[in-house]
Amino acid sequence: MSQAIKIDEIPLDEINPARPELYTDENVLELFKRLRENDPVHYSEDPTFGPMWSITRYEDCVAVDTDHKRFSSSDQFGGIQIDDSIVRPPVEGVEISAFITKDQPHHAPVRKSVQPIASPPALDSFKETITQRTSDILDSLPEGEEFNWVDTVSIELTTQMLATLFDFPFEDRHLLTYWSDITTSTEGSDHFPGHEKRVEGLMECLEYFTKLREKRANGAPNFDLVSMLARDPNTKDMDPMNFLGNLLLLIVGGNDTTRNSMSASINALNQFPDEFAKLREDPALIDNMVAEVIRWQTPLSHMRRTALEDLEMHGKTIKKGDKVVMWYYSGNHDESVFENPREVKFDRPNGKSHLSFGFGIHRCMGLRVAELQLRILWQQILEKFEKIEIVKDPVRVSSHFVNGYSEMIVKVTRR
Ligand code: HEM
Repeated sequence: MSQAIKIDEIPLDEINPARPELYTDENVLELFKRLRENDPVHYSEDPTFGPMWSITRYEDCVAVDTDHKRFSSSDQFGGIQIDDSIVRPPVEGVEISAFITKDQPHHAPVRKSVQPIASPPALDSFKETITQRTSDILDSLPEGEEFNWVDTVSIELTTQMLATLFDFPFEDRHLLTYWSDITTSTEGSDHFPGHEKRVEGLMECLEYFTKLREKRANGAPNFDLVSMLARDPNTKDMDPMNFLGNLLLLIVGGNDTTRNSMSASINALNQFPDEFAKLREDPALIDNMVAEVIRWQTPLSHMRRTALEDLEMHGKTIKKGDKVVMWYYSGNHDESVFENPREVKFDRPNGKSHLSFGFGIHRCMGLRVAELQLRILWQQILEKFEKIEIVKDPVRVSSHFVNGYSEMIVKVTRR
């Protein structure tokens, strides 16, 4: 727990934001505040993940994210997370590649092949299904009894959505959650199964989807992510590791992130009950509320880049080949942009300017899908519930990448 770590006492030059155990509570935000104020381009070395630069101010995160000519996302240099072993696990013959870990010209054609899944007509076509499923799950919740919101609502809803986007056999949908979890857990974080086990699980994923791809390539046209990858001229002949990488990107992209925003919204409601009252009075605030929760939570704490040339930032020299980490979690709590950033305010005038979806060419492809799911969830919550009360301290995941919850015990009271 970071409380045990005593954040204020760590000398500035010894701060190492890569340590996963810092992220089990919100105190890590105090550490980022110190960095923003005193050392906005901060160097650290970690025994597992090696050396890196931490970018902690809002404007600097935007500057790096929008400068893809000097800051690479490529898996060639280790990809987009602090932990290089995500793209290059130390298992012989395995290198996993996806369009999020590609620079131009390789990135755009693959993104284009799957982008229709988040187009306005596609979103319209999903609305009814999402509304029905959300309503069914909320109606099935036991009133007055304690249960874990994370498993029962957040994971179940996002997994169902993912099954829809892939048109994945519904009865096997728990496999999507499993593949997502083993992909995102890093060394030292919860549920890390070890590299061999992770690769074994991912190979099962590849096998499962390869069969689906063959069927969809030759069957009747269908609107789903597997069909798009199977039929687009730029992706239909993708080699297995590329196919796997892109599948994992789409699985993880749509899963952990949205799931944790759903849980975060319940946490926000409990920590800031006046905001809930505001929302009841003016349900039109739901759009702002969704953005504000995504800012406050920052479902992915960071994205990483690699410098393609020597450059100066705030008097520090970043060398070609150095790892540069944009801490969105810190930028979203930069008080020079967001007043009283640790507070949730559903009517915050600039809540929508958050960094959580990134900027630049890799800006989240599924952000409208995520927002739609959260909006519908909250419309339904307002209709159906008087109160959703957290009855025990929520348990946060210890990860420097996925900022989330593994447990949130709640009790609901219906209207
Ligand atoms: C609250 C929910 C979500 C958050 C916070 C989130 C966050 C992000 C972030 C930070 C990036 C990288 C941005 C960058 O490097 O500049 C990203 C990329 C991406 N996201 Fe999301 N995401 C969410 C939901 C989704 C959903 C629902 C999907 C799929 C339906 C999705 C699919 C993707 C894909 C495919 C990319 C790669 C885009 C590219 O490289 O061009 N995301 N997301």
